[in-house]
Amino acid sequence: MPSTVLIGAQWGDEGKGKIIDLLTESVDFVVRMQGGSNAGHTVRVGDDEFILHLIPSGILRGSKTCIIGNGVVVDPQSLFEEIDTLTSKGVRIDGNLLINETVHIIFPYHKLLDVLREELKGSSKIGTTGRGISPTYMDKVGYMGIRAIDLLDEDVFREKLRINLHEKNLFLTRVYDHEPLDFDEIYSQYSAYGERMRPYICNTEIILNRALKEDKKILFEGAQGTLLDVNFGSYPYVTASSTTAGGACTGSGTGPTWIDLVVGVVKAYTTRVGSGPLPTEFPPEADFVDRKRDREYGATTGRSRRCGWFDALVVRHAVRVNGIGAAALTKLDVLDNTPKINICTSYQCDGQAIKEFPNSTAILSRCQPVYEEMDGWMSDTSNVRRYEDLPENARKYVERLSELIGAPIEIVSVGSERSQTIVRRDLLQKRNSPTRGNVAGGSFQQ
Ligand code: IMP
Repeated sequence: MPSTVLIGAQWGDEGKGKIIDLLTESVDFVVRMQGGSNAGHTVRVGDDEFILHLIPSGILRGSKTCIIGNGVVVDPQSLFEEIDTLTSKGVRIDGNLLINETVHIIFPYHKLLDVLREELKGSSKIGTTGRGISPTYMDKVGYMGIRAIDLLDEDVFREKLRINLHEKNLFLTRVYDHEPLDFDEIYSQYSAYGERMRPYICNTEIILNRALKEDKKILFEGAQGTLLDVNFGSYPYVTASSTTAGGACTGSGTGPTWIDLVVGVVKAYTTRVGSGPLPTEFPPEADFVDRKRDREYGATTGRSRRCGWFDALVVRHAVRVNGIGAAALTKLDVLDNTPKINICTSYQCDGQAIKEFPNSTAILSRCQPVYEEMDGWMSDTSNVRRYEDLPENARKYVERLSELIGAPIEIVSVGSERSQTIVRRDLLQKRNSPTRGNVAGGSFQQ
């Protein structure tokens, strides 16, 4: 087997790009299964930095087959911008990138409606990336979507676009007081995109299932994070896709019986972009994260990320709903100069103790964090390569987090370079039986 799903265990931006890149070395296929060009995976290779929005990070390791699965929504303009940027930097893209024929396509009206809906919401806006993600998924579940395969059939595409644009122009003109969009312009632009996409488009579920039967190794590369999941996230401050491990199956056409391990990527503290409650958010006077040095700007929108202490309720929720069997802890080095470190172990809300992450956003917004304080290690960890060489207090921090979240921390990242990584266990080694959540104890409390 092994096929491994890697997902973010917080609000996205956990540093998944680097861990994906690390694990990709030993797999044959890398699969994106949800989201779109709202994602931004940053990978540093030597002096080069790559930011991937849509194409699986495996593309940086030439010999891997990269698949954009059916659960993804594709903006052809971003896709080709990304392909052109990568090829101009010497990355090979020929036959190693495949796009599922049923991916839904993002159109100009989706991007426009995304922005107009946010404006209409005013202070209750979600803070979307403006990439048209939610309107495209709305069309998908509203039986209106246009898929890659439709772009390849002139008559089908013409008819679907006609129906869509009729409805979208009614919205644009009557609800948003906006100019209507022009059919011919979109039709010719997207027909041309379809032709350029043609060589990449195929039935990837057949290819993937054949590969699984041939014992190939597959890495499913999640985008965003658990708390942005449309089912299990801090709704409505979420994204429109299934960012949790289950999305790997529905977004790729791979049955759950093939999934061997779920790896959760966890940042050593908490960040989020966009609106919505963030109980452990630092007050401005206590915010020690240097956005520039610590790279806490959104890779897609350039927005400054909101930062706070590690929230164990959030990650324990993620371990639960994803079945995380191993965690990769990132950005431990950002805490190197922090004398006292807090971990949120429960909340107080309306005089009551809350021990598990609440599904009500109204309750979450009233929650006050209850902290456990630990001594920092006050030394540079960025050159440490073996777990036992970490300062004692850093190891105590890692072990306490592991205990609180209920999953073993098998990888610790101490910098953005590939080499700045402590690997405690080879996660992609052959296993006899699947490894699922809660292996390190840390029972779920109610
Ligand atoms: P959308 O995905 O553009 O619709 O945005 C919905 C929410 O998800 C907003 O709060 C975004 O900031 C957030 N979001 C979307 N993609 C990412 C990501 O890759 N990292 C972090 N937050 C994201």
